[in-house]
Amino acid sequence: MKDFEKEKMLAAQEAVKFIESDMIVGLGTGSTAFYAINEIGKLVKNGFKIKAVATSNESAALAASLNIDVIDINAVDSIDITIDGADEFTSEFLMIKGGGGALFREKVVAAMTKKEIIIADSSKKVAVLGKFKVPVEVVPFAYQYVLRQLAVINGKGTVRMKNDTQYLTDQGNFIIDADFGLISDPKALAAKLNEIEGVAAHGLFIGLTHTIIMGERDTTIIFKK
Ligand code: 5RP
Repeated sequence: MKDFEKEKMLAAQEAVKFIESDMIVGLGTGSTAFYAINEIGKLVKNGFKIKAVATSNESAALAASLNIDVIDINAVDSIDITIDGADEFTSEFLMIKGGGGALFREKVVAAMTKKEIIIADSSKKVAVLGKFKVPVEVVPFAYQYVLRQLAVINGKGTVRMKNDTQYLTDQGNFIIDADFGLISDPKALAAKLNEIEGVAAHGLFIGLTHTIIMGERDTTIIFKK
């Protein structure tokens, strides 16, 4: 049986090899990014000078606990490398992110990043996106409208809940998890989602990733564009 935790860790260890001292590094969110942040903590302990931008309060707190210097994203013009996870990806570099609820910040960080590295265990690789529902981060004011607009484009949306109330992102937004079935044309769907007023960000990440590192049993497979 595959050990997915080991695959995540191996992918993270491989990814941090791309980091050099004095870089500005984007920190992803989730259980796979957790391993990368811990590895970055080791680099800092060994004398690397790194400034980091975090994609969530949780990742910022973990980084700070490891003495990684976390700075405000608005203090930088660009980010050298970001290491983040994914919920699904294809060999064509199409992916779904946002399962952990950090998609708005993850997308902004990815857009500002020169080298976005996605790390994942082998369960995340799919032939076609869509088994995992597409997270859509919405401004609360607009969430019922967005639910209706998603239905118009054949998306069955459910508002993500936590402790009997709507889950709130670090941005103070709601998340709608939208089921589109298998997505034959992710680019077309992304374009439609971009058109809906009230959507802060959606979980289809297209054209934002430079390298994918996947753990596969005792080794890693690197996909490059
Ligand atoms: C958080 C994300 C995560 O990267 C994604 O959900 C993968 O998480 P994990 O590594 O825990 O499987 O997009 O918003």
